[in-house]
Amino acid sequence: MERINNISNFNELRKKIQTNKINLNKEKPIIVRIAMATCGLASGAGNIKEYFEKELAKRNINAQIVSTGCMGYCYAEPTVEIIKNGDNGIIFGFVDQKKVDEIIENYIINNKPVEGVIEKNYINVNNL
Ligand code: FES
Repeated sequence: MERINNISNFNELRKKIQTNKINLNKEKPIIVRIAMATCGLASGAGNIKEYFEKELAKRNINAQIVSTGCMGYCYAEPTVEIIKNGDNGIIFGFVDQKKVDEIIENYIINNKPVEGVIEKNYINVNNL
């Protein structure tokens, strides 16, 4: 997002938007799906959800945080699926606050790989 420092910047930006040179809605929001079944909750998924909400808002990242039921990964809770720009999503296991920071800074913001990905055992219905 361009920074507006004066009225001239404002007018330039308004003109670009009006002529569709900038589409403010072109990027789909990041979707963060957090498994909140019994095993997830027992492993701290509630705290991880709150931490994601706080850290994504702090960084002004357009994201939808969704609580899901069982995703089938009891052994790796808390688990989180990150879907960027409508892709198939990848799942991180054993997510703690340090991992949330890594996911946001490295994977979401900078498109860098982050350790802790677990094999996905299902297909999202929206992607069939
Ligand atoms: S009961 Fe644990 S992942 Fe479904």
